[in-house]
Amino acid sequence: MPTVLTVNGARHTLDLDPRTSLLDALRHHLGLTGTKKGCDHGQCGACTVIVNGVRINACLALAVMHDEDEITTVEGLEAEAALSPLQRNFIRHDGFQCGYCTPGQLVSATAMLDELRDGWPSHASDNLSEPQHTRAEIAERMSGNLCRCGCYPGIVAAIQDVLEADEGLTGETR
Ligand code: FES
Ligand code: FES
Repeated sequence: MPTVLTVNGARHTLDLDPRTSLLDALRHHLGLTGTKKGCDHGQCGACTVIVNGVRINACLALAVMHDEDEITTVEGLEAEAALSPLQRNFIRHDGFQCGYCTPGQLVSATAMLDELRDGWPSHASDNLSEPQHTRAEIAERMSGNLCRCGCYPGIVAAIQDVLEADEGLTGETR
């Protein structure tokens, strides 16, 4: 089935078996192996990508459902060959060990930061009109991304640094 995916700004026309997951289309048809396959059934978040501005698990979506959609993978987080502030903070805070979950963590956190900036509440929000940037709030929002190495403190610290830079208007934003 012909399917058009715009991935990291590049438009691709694929001829796919309609049963192909978005994850397999990215990895096996487009060679974008940064997006990882952990559980392949929606439990770990390693396959997180951003579709039309919203993070999803690519293993739970059929590629044909995303015909003509805009997709961002971990390979698309850099801007002009420079790491994003979030990526730099992951390095600074040791937000990874084996690195297997890291692409999903980075993509998920990138979209999560936009959700926070847009004022979306979460299950952990005390104030629904103005979500706080607490550790509990971030942990809840990132709870779909598992890290078997237990790098959660570094991951949360990296995200908090981006939020603090937002507030300080230092230019360290996205
Ligand atoms: Fe998709 Fe685990 S590989 S959630
Ligand atoms: Fe190893 Fe997260 S860094 S699973």
